[in-house]
Amino acid sequence: MSKKRIGVLTSGGDAAGMNAAIRAVVRTALANGWQPYAIRSGFSGLLTGEISSLEWRDVSGIIQLGGTVLRSARSQQFMLPSAPKMAIAVLEHYEIDGLVVIGGEGSQRGAHALSTAGFRVVGIPATIDNDLFGTDVALGVDSAVNVALEAIDRLKITAASHSRAFIVEVMGRRCGYLALVAGVAGGAEVVVVPEIDSQPAAIVGDLHCAYERGHLHAIAVVAEGAHYNADALLEYFKAHAAEVKFDLRVTKLGHVQRGGAPGAFDRLLGTQFGAAAFDHISRGQHGVLLGMLGGKLASTPLQTVIAEKKLLDSELTRLARILGI
Ligand code: F6P
Repeated sequence: MSKKRIGVLTSGGDAAGMNAAIRAVVRTALANGWQPYAIRSGFSGLLTGEISSLEWRDVSGIIQLGGTVLRSARSQQFMLPSAPKMAIAVLEHYEIDGLVVIGGEGSQRGAHALSTAGFRVVGIPATIDNDLFGTDVALGVDSAVNVALEAIDRLKITAASHSRAFIVEVMGRRCGYLALVAGVAGGAEVVVVPEIDSQPAAIVGDLHCAYERGHLHAIAVVAEGAHYNADALLEYFKAHAAEVKFDLRVTKLGHVQRGGAPGAFDRLLGTQFGAAAFDHISRGQHGVLLGMLGGKLASTPLQTVIAEKKLLDSELTRLARILGI
């Protein structure tokens, strides 16, 4: 009897830990007598048939690497209504029985579309934005936060030498999670997130207050998706320089946060998610996104994942406000 086949793809923005997840899918599948298949370049490669089988050694030496060895893409074509059926035809051509989709919100929408069209799909949350419902933490978040923290720590040192305030812009798309966590853990004076309406006059007030208290530096961590992101804040601050007091500089971390190597947390999480994804597919439990909820492995229907909005931790936003100044 021919072996059952499982496909794995990575899609959307790369996230540290994706390679650990790929490795775990491949090796648990092989260990259980299944044949794993690589689908390269995300949903684009699925539509064009960039598909080949994988063996044990093909995923050697990748657990410590950032990015994704399968490459990724943001496929516009997969958003067309005809795409899921076309993709299923390709998967059936390769006799693939189940598919693991590793990626963020857009990727899990693609996974849901495939699942609704009748294919067996399991999602693994992987996005530095941490905006996916159904998991407390997605792959790549921890590593990205640590990159941001290292940057903030360094900026504090140069800022203190010049009595400067730094606006540090972090990624996150429309979600403020990265900014909030990096701000609290980095000891920032100000945190600006899209979910909370921050008035620039109040931010200037906070910086002014920090200066008056004798702070040698101040850090405002702002999310790229906030109404007052780095550019907007800088413009406002320039017009109110006398009140800010500190000399101002801006650092946008951008893709630097995505390019880091996975830390222990993301390697382990990727490994757990990858193994669980194979288990789910082999047991016929599909149409779900895996996640960690309260420290336990969980699975949530993809339908719920795409319908619900993940909220920012209100206790952490409260702490950011109290501890900042
Ligand atoms: O979704 C991950 C993310 O890094 C966002 O934080 C950011 O807004 C976006 O991707 C950047 O996308 P791209 O890599 O396509 O420029």
